Amino acid sequence: MDRSVLESDPHSVLEGMVIAGFAIGAGQGYIYVRAEYPKAIERLNIAIAQAEAKKFLGDGIWGTSFSFHVKLKEGAGAFVCGEETALMASIEGKRGMPRVRPPFPATKGLWECPTSINNVETFANVPWIVTNGSRAFSSLGTANSKGTKVFAMAGKVKRGGLVEVPMGISIKEVVFDVCGGIKGDRKFKAVQMGGPSGGCIPAELQNTIIDYESITKTGAIMGSGGLVVMDETTCMVDVARFFLEFTQRESCGKCTFCRVGTKRMLEVLTRICDGEGKDGDIELLEQLASLVRNTSLCGLGQSAPNPVLTTIKYFRSEYEAHITNKKCPAHNCKPLLTYTILDSCIGCLMCAKVCPTKAITGELKKVHVIDQTKCTHCGECHKACRVDAIAVD
Ligand SMILES: Cc1cc2nc3c(=O)[nH]c(=O)nc-3n(C[C@H](O)[C@H](O)[C@H](O)COP(=O)(O)O)c2cc1C
Ligand code: SF4
Ligand code: SF4
Repeated sequence: MDRSVLESDPHSVLEGMVIAGFAIGAGQGYIYVRAEYPKAIERLNIAIAQAEAKKFLGDGIWGTSFSFHVKLKEGAGAFVCGEETALMASIEGKRGMPRVRPPFPATKGLWECPTSINNVETFANVPWIVTNGSRAFSSLGTANSKGTKVFAMAGKVKRGGLVEVPMGISIKEVVFDVCGGIKGDRKFKAVQMGGPSGGCIPAELQNTIIDYESITKTGAIMGSGGLVVMDETTCMVDVARFFLEFTQRESCGKCTFCRVGTKRMLEVLTRICDGEGKDGDIELLEQLASLVRNTSLCGLGQSAPNPVLTTIKYFRSEYEAHITNKKCPAHNCKPLLTYTILDSCIGCLMCAKVCPTKAITGELKKVHVIDQTKCTHCGECHKACRVDAIAVD
């Protein structure tokens, strides 16, 4: 979402930063942008040169005594470098690791100077607010969350991409009215909000309005506005495993529970998805999640358990089905699937031809059989059967 703002309207961010610099008496601004976003970097460089040529940026802005310069810092893609103290360390050329606060950046930040750190979207909103007035901005939104929010819509939604909606709109309105509903008109199951550290909100709570307080109450977070839509084919245990795999890999390793606790949680989730879950695994995940959350120094560790805790809270029965019945209700976790050929099989040999392990036997025009000891649950036979004669359970 932020990359798109930088690529499509870099001047709005520069102008927002100049106004912020003027307001707090700063002369130097930095934009921390991933090196993996070359188009954003290219366009920011062009915009900076254009703004400097017009005297909107640099020395003596608009012929006044106010000067403000902007430098780009290309980050090497570490998630933890989004955390403010790690971000400043990275700009200073140090290893991008969070540090204890206080001191907070506002008192002692970059190069030990007072520093204001804001998101790209926040700065991009500033020129509009200054031009149109704060009343116009706050006429949209709720009591404590004003204006609009941009979401990067992804997953099983008909119209994905970026949408800008007023704060206070419901999840249901964003998914169905703005984005056209669920792909293939499948059943809406949940949304995951707030990126890898966010949480899952179930379809039952689709009337929840989007503002900072309401989203936080569900256990998710607004974050920078990632919104992944999930349908009935999404396994919520696998979703938790997927996001935790990311945060665990991105942990900087400074705090023991963030470094080791997330690793142990990932191991438990992986074994549940592999059909090797044990009684007590859910409670173990909850205990580890609480320890990771409460003993981590920065937001990465504090929020890493969110996807696990919210999926346990709203989809506990899916965890139980994996652990106790060795079944994946969404038919997603391959080791837990059983493929069987029904009597409606017309004996066309299609499934036998595509099976990579030669697990299917049968004569032409006779019902085929799967040898379960050879089946690797790849699903190729199910896809190949033209008469829907292969059941998945
Ligand atoms: C692990 C971690 C990653 C973060 N990544 C980003 C990021 O990619 N972009 C961003 O704007 N803020 C990110 N943040 C939040 C920033 O540290 C900071 O709080 C935010 O940019 C403040 O801006 P705002 O008050 O204008 O929203 C991250 C925080 C944490 C803990
Ligand atoms: S919580 Fe995790 S990412 Fe944050 S400082 Fe500790 S180890 Fe590093
Ligand atoms: S799921 Fe894959 S391995 Fe199993 S019978 Fe079908 S094609 Fe063969």
